[in-house]
Amino acid sequence: MEYVIGADLGTSAVKVILVNQRGEMCGEASKPFSIIQPHSGYSEQDPREWAEKTKVAIKELIENARVEAAQIKGISFSGQMHGLVLLNREGEVLRNAILWNDTRTADQCRQINGVIGKARLLELVKNPALEGFTLPKLLWVKEHEKELFEKTAVFLLPKDYVRYTMTGCLHSEHSDAAGTLLLDVKHKNWSGEICRRLGIPESICPELVESGACVGGLTAEFAAETGLSPDVKVFAGGADNACGAIGAGILREGTALCSIGTSGVVLTYETDPEQEFRGNIHFFNHAAFGSYYSMGVTLSAGRSFSWFKDVFADQYSFDSLISEMDRSKPGARGLLFTPYLSGERTPHADADIRASFIGMDSSHTRADFIRAVIEGITFSLHESIEQFRAGGKKIDRVISIGGGAKSEKWLQIQADTFNAEIVRLTSEQGPAFGAAMLAAVGCDWFPTLEDCAGQFVHTKESFFPRPEISRRYQDLFQIYKDVYRQTKPLNERLACFRK
Ligand code: XUL
Repeated sequence: MEYVIGADLGTSAVKVILVNQRGEMCGEASKPFSIIQPHSGYSEQDPREWAEKTKVAIKELIENARVEAAQIKGISFSGQMHGLVLLNREGEVLRNAILWNDTRTADQCRQINGVIGKARLLELVKNPALEGFTLPKLLWVKEHEKELFEKTAVFLLPKDYVRYTMTGCLHSEHSDAAGTLLLDVKHKNWSGEICRRLGIPESICPELVESGACVGGLTAEFAAETGLSPDVKVFAGGADNACGAIGAGILREGTALCSIGTSGVVLTYETDPEQEFRGNIHFFNHAAFGSYYSMGVTLSAGRSFSWFKDVFADQYSFDSLISEMDRSKPGARGLLFTPYLSGERTPHADADIRASFIGMDSSHTRADFIRAVIEGITFSLHESIEQFRAGGKKIDRVISIGGGAKSEKWLQIQADTFNAEIVRLTSEQGPAFGAAMLAAVGCDWFPTLEDCAGQFVHTKESFFPRPEISRRYQDLFQIYKDVYRQTKPLNERLACFRK
């Protein structure tokens, strides 16, 4: 039997899994990270910590799995998107990575719109200037840390940096590069026009490869330190959302994906690069060759729930908090939560908005608060679904993965809110599984990702909307949507008190 490794560099942890040729999970290891938040709106991590913890996780995975090193044939990656890693000529990290949920770059987004123009930007890179994307972060460093920018030999995305520490080779691949605002999504090359007009030397953009490309082998040092064979083939991998989609078998049009991790996304598979959502929804290259996906993003999805737990209920497990929801009722007895803990992306591209609890009553208990948080996260994702539906997409079947798919109660809330069938998979391993599938196809176990999905991905059960509760949620959702509009001016006035 042969095996591959899928490594997912998430925001809260790195997770590595070992998968055999039947698509069975044969081992797993994970190491957590924390986020460095020196100011409100800032979000950073040390890339060296990512690399070190990934190495330790792989070592642990191999030590615990009862397989010979020679049986592990390939490894591939999935990673948090958009984060900026800067390296000097010696390949050393120049500063902490600025992450996808860092919103310090409002001025740089204005600059991009001013210099390139909103319409031209959409034409070139299919997406609008948003604080989370990589280009505004590069411009921020150029403006605020000039010396450091001048020392930059190459910029990398998070998982591409981790892979570099294993192979010594510098690459990016299309699915992650699409989230930089520097990739011409349709032609799959760095946009010379954007680089030139914004003063970014094209020489700092890494070489681009396909997500499924073999980018070489491991360094002898990395192999020796982890116990992997130096003959393991290393495949480029993909953005976490692209890999989440592959791992859920989203490889043809029809079914949507809802993935709730630190962020939450709703995405659909696309084949037509001319698909038009006027920038309301992201449009990126898929990690499956020649295809795309469109996606709406809630910045603080699972993060809202973990924030609530950290601040108010640290001594309880996630499972027990979710069970407590039963003591409340759909609609959380009039308590609404909006999950804008660090601003929002879809449908409100707004770095300044902040979260709210509205309607607190002295009779409310913690159960109502938990339910309000879970419902608020789900409403926020429903706003993305509304955008898809408004753009003419039929969304009546959604595969749910991530933290939101671990609980039957939350899956039912998704069905009732989205008014769609919600499907759960048998063994759901999120983006790491999609990364493992890229390696499986790269190792020639299957001719295509679709063949691999046929063998690896299985649905377990479906949750259907309950009409009465669904109607209740539709009514509540109208009020939920008003909270953004009504709290926006208040949050603008509060912004100066956050410092
Ligand atoms: C997508 C996004 C997030 C990160 C989280 O645009 O910013 O989903 O990829 O890992």
